[in-house]
Amino acid sequence: MLSEKMQAELNKQINAELYSAYLYLAMSAYFESEDLPGMAQWMRLQYEEEVVHALKFYDYIHERRGRVLLAPIEAVQTEWESPLAVFEAALAHEQHVTALIHALVKLATEEGDYATQSFLQWFVDEQVEEEASADAVVQQLRRVGDSASLLFLLDRELGQRQAEAGGAEAEA
Ligand code: FEO
Repeated sequence: MLSEKMQAELNKQINAELYSAYLYLAMSAYFESEDLPGMAQWMRLQYEEEVVHALKFYDYIHERRGRVLLAPIEAVQTEWESPLAVFEAALAHEQHVTALIHALVKLATEEGDYATQSFLQWFVDEQVEEEASADAVVQQLRRVGDSASLLFLLDRELGQRQAEAGGAEAEA
């Protein structure tokens, strides 16, 4: 059984992952409106990954015979100054999510809840990738600067991103 505190914190993380999904969908919509279909596609895949993350927590709570309680999802930002500002915001958001995951690991450790600790390890590793992929685009956009032709090429390249193989099923 999960402790009440752990159940509450895991439920909060479902909300945080769905908020992330909603945020990335808003970023995708922004790129659609800016005629940057590659970046829109990149963010749409990111949205889909976050839904998978939320469902991993959802399934895990049930597996431990806990209760999922879905809370309202806060509104997200919908406008940004530039593609660079969007990816900087995405990177800052992932750093925030990493801190949330680490706080969950700390709680699991304090409670001696080794099953939850083990479950969370996938997210610890995933966050390293999540931060690295957002940071890589931030660096690329900094190099692009004001060049419309380089932005066009980068957009095309980011549109090649593929959905992660497996997703939830691979880890289930
Ligand atoms: Fe679910 Fe991007 O962290």
